[in-house]
Amino acid sequence: MKILGIETSCDETAAAVVADGTEILSSVVSSQIDVHHRYGGVVPELASRKHIEAIIPVLSEALDNAGISTGQLDAVAVTRGPGLIGALLVGFSFAKAYAFTLDIPWVGVNHLEGHINSVFLEPDPPPFPFVALLVSGGHTSIYHVTDHTSARVMGQTRDDAAGEAFDKVAKVLGLGYPGGGVIGRLAEKGDPKKIIFPRAYLDKSGFDFSFSGIKTAVNRYLQTHENEYEQQYPDIAAGFQEAVADVLSYKVIRAAMEKQCEHIAIVGGVAANTRLREKVSQDAGEKGIAVHIPGYDLCGDNAAMIAGVGYHYLKSGKMADINTDVYSRVR
Ligand code: KG4
Ligand code: ZN
Repeated sequence: MKILGIETSCDETAAAVVADGTEILSSVVSSQIDVHHRYGGVVPELASRKHIEAIIPVLSEALDNAGISTGQLDAVAVTRGPGLIGALLVGFSFAKAYAFTLDIPWVGVNHLEGHINSVFLEPDPPPFPFVALLVSGGHTSIYHVTDHTSARVMGQTRDDAAGEAFDKVAKVLGLGYPGGGVIGRLAEKGDPKKIIFPRAYLDKSGFDFSFSGIKTAVNRYLQTHENEYEQQYPDIAAGFQEAVADVLSYKVIRAAMEKQCEHIAIVGGVAANTRLREKVSQDAGEKGIAVHIPGYDLCGDNAAMIAGVGYHYLKSGKMADINTDVYSRVR
C-alpha cells in the first residue's frame, strides 16, 4: 500500500511516499528557516503563506523521487494536529482535495504519533511495549507505547519544551533560530563540567520536566560574567546541553525500568542532538536497555513519519471524511 504523507504543522513543508508503513520511497522536506530566522522564532502567518507556495512543488518532487504517478497512490495521510492552525490548514485542505479528486481514502493523523512511529521507518524497530521520549520544539513527553496508535503519557514538561530551551538559550547568546544545531556544534568545543547549570526536577515530580529555569540560569550567568563571556560560549553551550541531556536520559531510563521495558525510542527534533544520543545510549546500555533513535533526517519534522502512522490508522479502519477538521492542541 503506497501512502502519500503530507506535513505542514509548523515551519516545514513536507511530502513523502511510504510503502506499507515502513519503506520510504521518497521524502522531501522544504524548510522555512530563512523566513523565520530574522524574527527569532516561527511567525505563523508567514509560515502559512510559505506552505501555500511550497506544497505543490514539494509534492511533485516527492512523486518524482518515488518514481510513481498519482494513479499509483493508494491513500493520503496528513497531519491534523497539534500545530499552528493556519499552517495545518494548508496541508490538510490540500490533502482533502487531492484524495477527493483521486477518489482514494485519506486520514488525518496526530503529529506526535508520527514522531513516535518514525522509529518504524528504520531497520530493527523496537518491539511493543516500549517507552518513547519525544523531544521537539513544542513538546517534551515520555510515553508508554503499546501499539502504533496507542501511547499513554507518563510525564511531560510543565513549562518549556527541551527544543524551546535550546532555541531560547541560542537567542540569548545571539546565535539565531533554530538553536539546537548551533548549540550542539558549539558545545563540542566546550567543557561540559566547567559551568554547572541546574537539573530541574531530576529526582522529583515523577516523569515530568521543567526547562524554563535553565534559560534564566544561563541569562544570570551572562549578567554576572559580562566581561569574559564571549570566550565562554562553548563552555556555556556544553554545560547547558549536558544539564538537559542528563535530565532527559535519567527520566526516560527510569520510566523504562518502571514499565519493565527493555526498549527505549528517542524521537523528535532534539533527538538529533549528538550528546543526547550518546548519553541515553550509554546510560541505557549499562542497564541492559536497547535504544532506538531514527536517523537525523527522520528526527525533525517530515512527512514519511506521517505516511508511516497513517498506514496503521487505515489498516485499523480509521478514515477521515470531508467534515474532519484540524486541531491546534492535543485533546
Ligand atoms: O520535531 P521538530 O523538527 O519540530 C517540532 O515539532 O517542534 O523539532 C524542532 C526542535 C527545535 O527546537 C530545534 O532547535 C531542535 O528541535 N533541534 C535540536 C537539534 N536539532 C534540532 N536540538 C538540539 N540539538 C540538535 N542537534
Ligand atoms: Zn515535530
